[in-house]
Amino acid sequence: MQTVSTRADLGKAVSALKSGGKTLALVPTMGALHEGHMTLVRQARAHADRVAVSIFVNPLQFGAGEDLDAYPRRLAQDSRLLAEAGVDLLWTPGVADMYPEGFVTTVSVPGLDGVLCGAHRPGHFDGVATVVLKLFNQVRPDVALFGEKDWQQLTVIRRMARDLDLAFPSADAIIGVPTVRELDGLAMSSRNRYLTGIERARATVLNRAMRAAIGAILHGQPVGAVLEDLASALRDAGFDRIDYAELRKSETLEHLAHWDGGAARLLVAAHIGRTRLIDNMAIEPAMALVPEAAGAL
Ligand code: PAF
Repeated sequence: MQTVSTRADLGKAVSALKSGGKTLALVPTMGALHEGHMTLVRQARAHADRVAVSIFVNPLQFGAGEDLDAYPRRLAQDSRLLAEAGVDLLWTPGVADMYPEGFVTTVSVPGLDGVLCGAHRPGHFDGVATVVLKLFNQVRPDVALFGEKDWQQLTVIRRMARDLDLAFPSADAIIGVPTVRELDGLAMSSRNRYLTGIERARATVLNRAMRAAIGAILHGQPVGAVLEDLASALRDAGFDRIDYAELRKSETLEHLAHWDGGAARLLVAAHIGRTRLIDNMAIEPAMALVPEAAGAL
C-alpha cells in the first residue's frame, strides 16, 4: 500500500493506479477504523480494480464545542489494517493541504442539510459536502462507498453528485453499504469508544427500541405514538437527551407523520453521557407483508 500526504504525490499515485484503464474506488474516512470501515473497504474491492482510502479528520464538519480535538486519531494502527486488507492507496492530507490560507468556498445542499442532524449541528453537512467534493476532485474515483449508518450524509452526498453533474464518481456510483452492527445490535461507530462500560450496556436499548418501533409501524400503529414510546424507552434506559426520533422518506428525507407504504427510514440521534449516537433503519414496502420480519433486522 502506498501512503501519500501531498497533492503532488497523490496526483502521481492516482495516475499510476488508473493507468491501463483500471477503475478506482474511494472510501473516504476520518480514521479510527472499525469493522464498519473495513466492510466498506472489502466491498470497494468488488466494485473496482483498485481501492483508495482517505483519512482526514475534517475540521469543517465539527461545530464549536464538538469533539474535533477528542476525535480518535490512530494513523499507525489504521494504516496497518488497510495494508492487510489489500488497499492500494492511503491518502492522508493535512489540514493546510485541504484548506489552504484563503479557502472560502463551501457546498451546501439546502433542504437535506438543515433537518435531523443538520438542525442540531448547524453547518455540519456543508463541511461534509465540501470535503467530500474536494476528495472526489482530488482522487477522481469511479465509485465511492459510504456507510448507511450516516444515512443523511449519504443522501446529501448523492444529491450533491446529482445536482452538480459529478462524473468521478457519478451519483449512481455512490454506493451505500448497510450498517455494520455489534452482536448486540449497536451500530459500529468510531465514537462508541467514548462510552463508559455502563453507558455501553445501556446503549443496546437503542437498537431494540428502534426494531420495536418499526414492528409497531408495520402493524399500523400511529407513527406519533410509536415515536413517543421509542423516546420513552431511551429515556428509561438512561439516555440523557434525544435530538430526534423521526420517520422520513428515504431519498428526500421528507417528514412522514404516517407511513405511506413507500421506502422510509426511522432515524434517531440521542445522547448518552458525552456520546451522541445516531442510527437509522429502513422500512421497505415489502416488509408490510411480513411485519414480524422487522424483529429480525
Ligand atoms: O463519514 C465520515 O467519516 C465523514 O463524514 C466523511 C464522509 C469521511 C467526510 O469527512
